[in-house]
Amino acid sequence: MSQLGVGVIGAGMMGEVHAHLIAERIGSARVVAVSDPDGDRRRRVAESVGAAEVSDPLDVISDPEVQAVIIASPDQSHAEYAIASVHANKPCLCEKPLATTADDARAVVEAESAGGRRLVQVGFMREFDEGHASLVTLRDSGALGEVVAVRSTHINPAPWAPGVSAERVITQSMIHDIHSARFLVGSEVIAVSAVSVPFGDGAEGVDEGAVRFVTARLEMAGGAVALLDVNVASSYGYRVVAEIVGSEATARSAEGSAVEMWTSGAMVSAVSANWPDHFSAAYLTEVSAWVQAACGGGVTGPSAWDGYMANLVASALVEAEASGGRVELPTLSVPALYRG
Ligand SMILES: NC(=O)c1ccc[n+]([C@@H]2O[C@H](COP(=O)([O-])OP(=O)(O)OC[C@H]3O[C@@H](n4cnc5c(N)ncnc54)[C@H](O)[C@@H]3O)[C@@H](O)[C@H]2O)c1
Repeated sequence: MSQLGVGVIGAGMMGEVHAHLIAERIGSARVVAVSDPDGDRRRRVAESVGAAEVSDPLDVISDPEVQAVIIASPDQSHAEYAIASVHANKPCLCEKPLATTADDARAVVEAESAGGRRLVQVGFMREFDEGHASLVTLRDSGALGEVVAVRSTHINPAPWAPGVSAERVITQSMIHDIHSARFLVGSEVIAVSAVSVPFGDGAEGVDEGAVRFVTARLEMAGGAVALLDVNVASSYGYRVVAEIVGSEATARSAEGSAVEMWTSGAMVSAVSANWPDHFSAAYLTEVSAWVQAACGGGVTGPSAWDGYMANLVASALVEAEASGGRVELPTLSVPALYRG
């Protein structure tokens, strides 16, 4: 059977992770083209996976050898490339967020809906993480009873840029937790509020206005609440813990290493250094599922609609954090393409 030809747009950290998963772990696909405005990165990643270097990302999408596209360029370029992939009738795995504004995300939804076929999968890979997926399985089994609350704790080792404002924490990092809240509760967000904790004035290595912690409260349709927090600078490593509080039982994703050690006065377990190692299995499962779906001409997992909803909630949270108030979300009817 011939392999699926994949084009990768953006040869930074995430593009390289995806390109290598395909080249080294997924037999049914191969990387045929890599594009990045940074010539050194483009060349290094293209050479490492035996793909052609392409300078214009749009040429990757139109390349007849490219049957499916991975979009791993910066956030502000996602919507344009996702729409170009839809117009070319090629399935894409578009890294989160789908867009930087809800209007741009809606434009992707509209382009896809006009074609009548799902071609965009958004890189909310926690749906493919064993812990998160097991929570959904438990919830659906009825063992937890009614979902009362979801908690998501998202801990980064250090700021990923010097000026990490509350807006950036919400739109770039907490957007994962927003999607988790929607799929763990199984309903939409109806209202939000948020507060942040700034770094102290003059803190080393951060710009004025940078925050070190953001906590959000999402009121969900049906009455449950989702409590999300992002710690920007734990100083010790990376963790994500998700919990469903049910009326009959509470379940939480397990963390740490396969082995725990008890030593003098302490119990020791591993903590990931950062997201690539914490979620390495989830990325592989995500890309494998995407390739399998793309071989059939479609996509699976988080949809453009999910991406749009996450952008809408993120915008509301940015507004709520800035005003200190409670912001309500509009009730939207889900287009036919995304139902069921
Ligand atoms: N799913 C996840 O867990 C996860 C984790 C990290 C990053 N991301 C997302 O992946 C994307 C890439 O993040 P990253 O950490 O790899 O960033 P990065 O900065 O390491 O890489 C981005 C690359 O895109 C290139 N680029 C810049 N403008 C471009 C354009 N217009 N077209 C094509 N390429 C362009 C840059 O030269 C760079 O090589 C971001 O959208 C980010 O939010 C997702």
